[in-house]
Amino acid sequence: MFFLSRKPMNTRSLVSIDDFSSEEIIKILDMAEDFEKQPVRKLLDSKVIATLFFEPSTRTRLSFESAINRLGGKIVGFTDSSSSSVTKGETLHDTIKMVSSYSDLIVMRHPIEGSARFASEVASVPVINAGDGANQHPTQTLLDLYSIRKTQGTLENLNIFMVGDLKYGRTVHSLMMAMSRWNATFNFISPEELKMPDEFKLYLENQGLKYYEHTDFTEIISRADIIYMTRVQKERFSDPIEYEKVKNVYVLRNSMLGNTKPNMKILHPLPRVNEINIDVDTSPKAYYFEQALNGVFTRQAILCNLLGINTGRA
Ligand code: CP
Repeated sequence: MFFLSRKPMNTRSLVSIDDFSSEEIIKILDMAEDFEKQPVRKLLDSKVIATLFFEPSTRTRLSFESAINRLGGKIVGFTDSSSSSVTKGETLHDTIKMVSSYSDLIVMRHPIEGSARFASEVASVPVINAGDGANQHPTQTLLDLYSIRKTQGTLENLNIFMVGDLKYGRTVHSLMMAMSRWNATFNFISPEELKMPDEFKLYLENQGLKYYEHTDFTEIISRADIIYMTRVQKERFSDPIEYEKVKNVYVLRNSMLGNTKPNMKILHPLPRVNEINIDVDTSPKAYYFEQALNGVFTRQAILCNLLGINTGRA
């Protein structure tokens, strides 16, 4: 009873990238630009943010924590659910109820698709989906959009190549949904076993958008504005033999970049395994480490937006 009465009417979560309108996305990117110029601002003084990571993470957790620290907020949470009462059999429902009463906002990564939506319905505070299984990773998408706009000068009419594990890669699912708003053309490059799921292709078809599927991209690489490489998601395979068959299917090398557009950029949500050779790292077309840095500014903007904090931008 106590918990139910605490939920404010205006509590808003970020579970799917479709939770934000195009105008709201642009506003967040503009706010992130401000944070890039001035990242240390005490806007979260007195706020407590819970970071609940039921799955491993380097970039998402640490960039959120860096963002919170630079804004003067405090962090509670866990990086490994084995140190929480989940090991005693506590349900996600009860965990979220409790953490809601200890914090002003919850950032959660969980292996089960739909867990973030469930948490947002249970919580009395905003919930940010930091990745739910193979489903969505909307804060990664916002930093990807920030990186694309920053490098291309626009989000409109771009040719986006998505390469690798399009079946289990939640980052490509969220990014595809977002970029569909700005009339992107999509080239999906994957082995048969890891094709973009039908539900996401239907999402594009319903909007009359073009997409093309390939198993190789060496002949068409010159058309790309963005090449979005992805790791084959080993942890989502139930059969290790199936993973072994596809794990090294695409390796981007510097020698492949000669015939690419001058302003083409290579993105990757990271971590990488073998899919981008280290000889690409020194190419001016490699942008994945800057992309990861952009995660701090973008997450500062997302936190302030969901907490209703005025950053000074109209
Ligand atoms: N991009 C991303 O989600 O990285 P982590 O798994 O390290 O958080």
